[in-house]
Amino acid sequence: MPLPKVEVQFSELLRAQSHVWNHIFSFINSISLKSAIQLGIPDIILKHGKPMTLPELVDILRINKAKAHGVYRLMRILIHSGFFIEEKISQNEEKKGYWLTPASRLLLKEEPFSLAPLLLVVLDPILTEPWHYVAEWLKDDHPTPFSTLHGRSFWAYAGQDPKLNHLFNNAMANDSRLITSVVIRDCKHVFEGLNSIVDVAGGTGTMAKAIAETFPNLKCTVLDLPHVVAGLKGTKNLCYVGGDMFETIPNADAILLKWILHDWSDEECIKILKKCKEAIPSKEEGGKLIIIDMVVVDNQKEEEEIIESQLFFDMMMMVAVGGIEREEREWMKLLKASGFSHYKIINKLGSRSLIEVYPS
Ligand SMILES: C[S@@+](CC[C@H](N)C(=O)[O-])C[C@H]1O[C@@H](n2cnc3c(N)ncnc32)[C@H](O)[C@@H]1O
Repeated sequence: MPLPKVEVQFSELLRAQSHVWNHIFSFINSISLKSAIQLGIPDIILKHGKPMTLPELVDILRINKAKAHGVYRLMRILIHSGFFIEEKISQNEEKKGYWLTPASRLLLKEEPFSLAPLLLVVLDPILTEPWHYVAEWLKDDHPTPFSTLHGRSFWAYAGQDPKLNHLFNNAMANDSRLITSVVIRDCKHVFEGLNSIVDVAGGTGTMAKAIAETFPNLKCTVLDLPHVVAGLKGTKNLCYVGGDMFETIPNADAILLKWILHDWSDEECIKILKKCKEAIPSKEEGGKLIIIDMVVVDNQKEEEEIIESQLFFDMMMMVAVGGIEREEREWMKLLKASGFSHYKIINKLGSRSLIEVYPS
């Protein structure tokens, strides 16, 4: 029997109320996960070797044992958000314990692709507090909410705060390990035939090291800010250069820009791209750029998780560094304005793509 109109309105209102509540409280997902990582819960469960009961977990955690109920509730929400599951301890027992999921495995300390450093850097108050300044930033003259709050850019802050610098560089290195494995497996052809490559703003060189090992005759250079590459040792075919990509980029056949252009505004990207163009030979002589970044999808056909990651990253770039995640038409405009005429997009990197770009 159809509900009276007023009932329909109430049920819609109640649904809308839940929707609003869940958005008000969605920071609880991030912060609960951060608490579990700070306590080392995924690593403790892995070390236990089988599903772990609440009393076993509470026993090992260095906490006030009277607060076991807090651990139970923390684990309950993290089961809901897909980070843990409850499994039978053994075939013959009914008793269940907490176990890892693929998502929590990606947060293990020893996991080479671990996202734990990224989680700790993104959820550090240095980076969460600027979110409270978005409205103020829209009215002021600062380039980012980060600078509205901290009075300097993220890069300048990282240059003066060794803990943030270390955490951020680790987060980037772990990401590069994952992307490099995929790129070397699925896009190896992109590097074939090159004699030299510069990884511009290549961090501590994780990607360049893997490329140098895979292609022993390819001369690899990592350019990054002096505080990032300080003390790093090269190899036979890998060297580090401390410098500013807005000033000078060493010459090479190809330039790699992984997760760089999304950090900058269009004007800044055009400056970087023009410097890159000066550093490489013509298309006929084999010159090219290899960009690894997001190409934001502008339709709803893509997986919802990918769209959400791209939108989150876009906001993160806006708030922290003044960058943008770009759609294909925005990439096209940027590349054209910087003197590049052809590009090829390879979509094999999850929410990111590899873009090969050739000078006009
Ligand atoms: C998002 S990280 C990416 C690092 C690396 N490409 C990767 O994907 O692992 C951006 C990098 O840009 C570097 N960077 C920022 N400003 C720079 C500049 N003016 N010149 C050179 N590198 C810079 C940072 O130090 C940082 O390592």
